[in-house]
Amino acid sequence: MTTCELIRLTRLGTTFGDQVVHRDINLAVYERDIVGLVGGSGSGKTTLMRAMIGLNQPTRGQARLFGQSLRKITIRQLNALHQRCGVLFQGGALFTALTVFENVAFPLRESRLLDESLIRQLVMMKLSMVGLEAEAATRLPSELSGGMVKRVALARALALEPELLFLDEPTSGLDPIASDAFVELLSSLHRELGFTVVMITHDLDVMHDLCTRIVVLADQHIVADGSPDEVRLVDHPFVRNFFHGGRADRVFGSDDPAEQVPVLKEPSYE
Ligand SMILES: Nc1ncnc2c1ncn2[C@@H]1O[C@H](COP(=O)(O)OP(=O)(O)OP(=O)(O)O)[C@@H](O)[C@H]1O
Ligand SMILES: [Mg+2]
Repeated sequence: MTTCELIRLTRLGTTFGDQVVHRDINLAVYERDIVGLVGGSGSGKTTLMRAMIGLNQPTRGQARLFGQSLRKITIRQLNALHQRCGVLFQGGALFTALTVFENVAFPLRESRLLDESLIRQLVMMKLSMVGLEAEAATRLPSELSGGMVKRVALARALALEPELLFLDEPTSGLDPIASDAFVELLSSLHRELGFTVVMITHDLDVMHDLCTRIVVLADQHIVADGSPDEVRLVDHPFVRNFFHGGRADRVFGSDDPAEQVPVLKEPSYE
């Protein structure tokens, strides 16, 4: 293992009853990577993310987090690793009966290391970091817009100043403007705080603007892994459908010479 390897999946397989969700998955995530995990609905992205965090035990193979095997780990050791991670679950998943303040304070309280005045300061700092006004702190999740819910969920994921951030579809349900704002926010936080991100997303703009690496999950395994430009070259039906044509070409640029904007040549006066 190199010092900067935060996640390592080796020959990982997941089966639920008769259903094979993953087979023979090998993947490493390195410090400061922003990995976009892409795949069809039900392809096993969330389950794979849960395996990386130790919330799902794979049926085969193994997962390592911060160099530690998650197979024979005690709850106490797992909790210690979780203190170094932030997770934004699919759908935001805020506690609906708790205010914004209480939601963000939740992981800080769970760590049992901080007194109430420090928790208050940290919560207000995280809310401001994700661009929320102090007055939002007393609201309930039902009183927030979709974009605000995502920001609160991000503030909660950042509460413990994680080295590793897991985001499950952080921009789904947001309009393009809110989604762009979220990408901008994540990008500046990544620059400032230097964390590593594993993000499940269907959003081509997010991949293009944010991800240093794309990992494609299809047919129960990883069919492509590389920079966005490398992944687009992979000859697989999912990659062809997802990364080519229409919107994808507008975001990433078309590979078809006929559709490329002609390069203007210097006029020749011969
Ligand atoms: N605890 C479980 N028990 C049984 N089956 C499960 C369990 N968790 C997930 N599955 C199944 O595993 C498959 C993959 O689910 P998963 O949630 O990982 O997909 P996904 O790629 O995240 O999908 P989506 O894009 O819709 O969020 C699905 O068929 C799902 O029904
Ligand atoms: Mg999912």
